[in-house]
Amino acid sequence: MDSIASSPSKPRSAREASSRPRPATRRVGILGVGSYAPERVLTNDDLERMVDTSDEWIQTRTGMRERRIAAPGQATSDLALVAAETALQRAGLAASALDVILVATVTPDHVCPATACHLQRKLGATRAAGFDISVACTGFVNALMTGHSFLASGTFSNALVIGADTLSTITNYEDRESCVLFGDGAGAVVLSASSEGAQVIDHVVGIDGGGAEMIIVPAGGSLRPASHETVDNHEHALKLQGRKVFRFAVTKFAEVLKQITARNDYALDDIDLVIPHQANLRILEAAADRVGLPMEKMFVNIDRYGNTSSASIPLALDDAYRQGRLERGKLVALVGFGGGLSWGASLIRW
Ligand SMILES: CC(C)(COP(=O)(O)OP(=O)(O)OC[C@H]1O[C@@H](n2cnc3c(N)ncnc32)[C@H](O)[C@@H]1OP(=O)(O)O)[C@@H](O)C(=O)NCCC(=O)NCCS
Repeated sequence: MDSIASSPSKPRSAREASSRPRPATRRVGILGVGSYAPERVLTNDDLERMVDTSDEWIQTRTGMRERRIAAPGQATSDLALVAAETALQRAGLAASALDVILVATVTPDHVCPATACHLQRKLGATRAAGFDISVACTGFVNALMTGHSFLASGTFSNALVIGADTLSTITNYEDRESCVLFGDGAGAVVLSASSEGAQVIDHVVGIDGGGAEMIIVPAGGSLRPASHETVDNHEHALKLQGRKVFRFAVTKFAEVLKQITARNDYALDDIDLVIPHQANLRILEAAADRVGLPMEKMFVNIDRYGNTSSASIPLALDDAYRQGRLERGKLVALVGFGGGLSWGASLIRW
C-alpha cells in the first residue's frame, strides 16, 4: 500500500514557497481603528533622575522624548479595552457581533488565562472565541494576518485584532540601556469579511530563533520559573543586545518591505505610507535610506510613546488615522521587527 512517507512529493523551491499565495476567497476590510495610551507620562527628565542618562542622549540616540506608563492595577486588557471600544464604535459594530478576538501581547494579564478572555468579558463580546499571539514587536502583523485568514476563508465574519502591552511591567528601571526605550499602550482594528473599509491585501512574516537571546525575558517561563533569585537578579525584565538588534532591524525592515511590495506587483514608490514598529528613530531613518523611501512616507510617533512592542504599530496606525494621513485609496504598509527574532509586513489599500 502506498504511504505518504514512501512517495514524498517534490520539495518546493524557496522561490515557489515565497510566491504570492492563492487569492483569498472573501475580501476583508478594516472597518474601524482605535488606540489608547495610559495617562501617566514618563519624560526623559524623569529618567535622568532614575538612571545615569540624559535627555540629550535619549533624544539623539532614539528619537524618544516621553512614553506612557500604566497605573498600578491597570492591566494590558484594560488598555486593550479602551482601544477596542473606540475601534468598534468607529466600525459601527457591537461587541456581540464579534466572532473572534486576537490579542497580540508579550505582557498578558496572566500566564493563564489568555488576555483575550479577560477582554472578551470586559467588552461583553458574548459570541467571540479568542486567543493571544506572542510575537513581540511583530505580534500585531501576525494577529492581523491570522484575523485576515479566518475571515477570508469563511471561518469567521468579524474579528477584533489588538496589539497591547504594558512593557513597564517587564522593564528594569535600573538598566539605563533598556529602561529609556519602553512604554505602554494598545491599538485595535475591527476586521470584517466585506469589500467595505480599508482592504487588507497580504502579509509577509518570519522568525529566527537563532537570535532569541538578543531580546529576552530570561525567567518566569518553564525553563526558569520564578524564584527569589530570579526576582533579585531582575530576570523578569527584558534584556537586550541593542547594537545587534539595531543592525538586524535595519536589514530586515528593508528586506520585508521590498518583499511585500514585489510579490504584490507594486514598486516601492507606490507605497504612500509606511506604519513601522517604533523601536528607534535612527533604525527607521537608516531603513528608509536603505530602500530609498523618503522619511515623509514613514509615520513616526516614537517621540511621544517610545517602543510599546505589540501596541506600537496599531497605536501609530490610529495616530495616522486621527491626523488624516490615511486617505481613501492610499497604499499602506505596516512593518514590524523585534523579539524572536521576528519580522513581518502587511499591505493595506486604505
Ligand atoms: C539601545 C540603543 C538605543 C543604543 O544606541 P547605540 O547608539 O547603539 O548605543 P551603544 O549601545 O553603542 O552605546 C553607546 C554608549 O552609550 C551608553 N549608553 C547606553 N544607554 C545609555 C543611556 N540610556 N544613557 C546614556 N548612555 C547610555 C553605552 O553604555 C555606551 O557607552 P560606551 O561607549 O562608554 O560603552 C540602540 O542600539 C537600539 O535602539 N537598539 C535596538 C533596541 C531594541 O532592541 N529594541 C527592542 C526590540 S525592537
